[in-house]
Amino acid sequence: MNKISLVAFALFALIGFSAHAAGTDDQGNLTAEERESVANLLAREYAAMAQKVDPKAVLSAEAGRAFYLKKVNVEGKEMSCASCHSDNPKESGKHTETGKPIKPLAIRANPERFTNRDKTESNFSKHCRELYGKDCAAKDKGDYLIYLLTLK
Ligand code: HEC
Repeated sequence: MNKISLVAFALFALIGFSAHAAGTDDQGNLTAEERESVANLLAREYAAMAQKVDPKAVLSAEAGRAFYLKKVNVEGKEMSCASCHSDNPKESGKHTETGKPIKPLAIRANPERFTNRDKTESNFSKHCRELYGKDCAAKDKGDYLIYLLTLK
């Protein structure tokens, strides 16, 4: 079976199953591979948006890593995405203000990541505003995502 028929099969199985077991969470029935492909689709979307700005734009994990670690001055404090998300995205982070633990951002370490487009977009906007005073460019978001997707 190819990928599409597999997904179609999974969806039919899911619909059939839900009819019997009310309250089944469909997210919970996605395989790790399918979750990863959702993140890949989102990365492709960012690549397409970045190419509207610069037709030669190519997403890069290296640029994503640099962006992740880049320090900016926020009200006298040196901050980066890593300040909360940890220097190593495969590890749990910690909120700089509340001290609350944050689950790893790397997809291999936390398969729940980047499976909900709205959540991803709203977090990108929020944190980019906190650090840069504006939303990040599609190229930055795409690089960031490629970095997190390619971490083994
Ligand atoms: C002040 C702390 C803090 C900083 C700094 C921070 N984040 Fe976050 N980030 C969080 C929290 C809290 C969450 C939501 C909790 C969760 O999803 O585990 C989160 C979640 C996210 C998500 C959602 C991932 C998903 O599951 O879809 C993205 C994307 C993200 N952050 C991007 C960034 C980027 C880009 C930067 C740097 C520009 C950044 N964050 C800096 C605290 C922070």
